[in-house]
Amino acid sequence: MTLPKGLAGVVVDQTKVSSTQGAVLTYAGYSIKELKNAPFEEVVFLLWHARLPSAEELNDFKKLLVSKMVLPYETVQLMARIAREPQHPMSILRTTVSLLGTTNDIERDDPPRILAKMLTAIAAIIRIRNDQPIKHVHKAWGVVENFIYMFSGNRPTPEQVAQFNTVMVLHADHEFNASTFTARVVASTKSDDYSCLTAAICALKGSLHGGANEQVFKMLEKIRQTGQDPIQYVAQRMAGGHKIMGFGHRVYKNGDPRAAILREIARQAAHETGNDDYFALQEEIKDYMFKTTRLHPNVDYYTALIYHCFNLDRQTFTTMFAACRTAGWLAHIIEQQSEGCLIRPSSEYVGETNRHYFADKEEKIID
Ligand SMILES: CC(C)(COP(=O)(O)OP(=O)(O)OC[C@H]1O[C@@H](n2cnc3c(N)ncnc32)[C@H](O)[C@@H]1OP(=O)(O)O)[C@@H](O)C(=O)NCCC(=O)NCCS
Repeated sequence: MTLPKGLAGVVVDQTKVSSTQGAVLTYAGYSIKELKNAPFEEVVFLLWHARLPSAEELNDFKKLLVSKMVLPYETVQLMARIAREPQHPMSILRTTVSLLGTTNDIERDDPPRILAKMLTAIAAIIRIRNDQPIKHVHKAWGVVENFIYMFSGNRPTPEQVAQFNTVMVLHADHEFNASTFTARVVASTKSDDYSCLTAAICALKGSLHGGANEQVFKMLEKIRQTGQDPIQYVAQRMAGGHKIMGFGHRVYKNGDPRAAILREIARQAAHETGNDDYFALQEEIKDYMFKTTRLHPNVDYYTALIYHCFNLDRQTFTTMFAACRTAGWLAHIIEQQSEGCLIRPSSEYVGETNRHYFADKEEKIID
């Protein structure tokens, strides 16, 4: 039996939520190229119901999500203590989501309430870390506008809302990526939604998955601060056996379709915020990587710059990924729960065999 390392290319189950077949990302059959400017709320509805909402349903769904973007006072009090700790924001988010599953009536919580609370919790973590007062939801605004306002403290422009909306739509789901699969494994044991999400966050945190966006910006900052030649820096890192974060993909070997869309948003956002130099640096590294390795940038490469343009501290970048992906995690949790089947694969044992405890112990004593 030869198994591909990391289950690469192995189809482990079926899903109706999303697909990357043919290197085209689709949500319930719709290409992200068509959905990229659809309201985030509409895409969430699509992922959860496998159909587009009517105009009335969409309006009600928006209102419902926004109305739930409020955290109980006691949760905020507890969060304030956790979020002030000097730990990584993803560690704080992991503990916060676990906390949300203990301080609320989890039997009553449904996907809209959970998604809404996740967004508010992430925005609150960012505000508390920066010693800034928590911002409250505006009932008349949409989810994306509220989310930006709640983490930044400023009402975004319509252009910023449109840019961030696309970022959220493109991150909303991605079939059986590592964090989603983790959430599905936990859901398959009939655990609760918060446990599934906590596990998903643990998987997302790593730098080979969602944690890559932070590492991308760390690299860009380092190059800018040291004044090093970018090509020399990247070449040296690779010669030292390091991967260049934000490049390569398990599924997309000829380019991540999300990166192409995000590149344009990064270019625009960088221009509007005086960050053209960062974008030019990214372009230089991208061209060099393609020339020398044929590797393309992935979803995390350009979001790093977009988040910087939204004044986010790089340590919080992966919490943004979590905010968007919660929609997809919940869609997969719902689907997995409806299947009622435990995920419990088998492994090929490759260790020692036919050993004998008593004989080996005796031999040691004689030695
Ligand atoms: C995403 C990733 C884990 C996919 O990995 P994968 O499908 O398992 O592919 P591999 O890691 O086996 O890579 C295949 C080859 O390309 C190289 N490679 C892949 N990504 C690379 C990168 N970012 N920088 C340099 N080399 C890379 C590998 O070293 C390997 O080379 P080898 O065959 O000489 O050993 C990998 O591309 C990576 O680690 N990228 C950086 C982290 C990142 O951006 N993660 C976010 C993903 S959305």
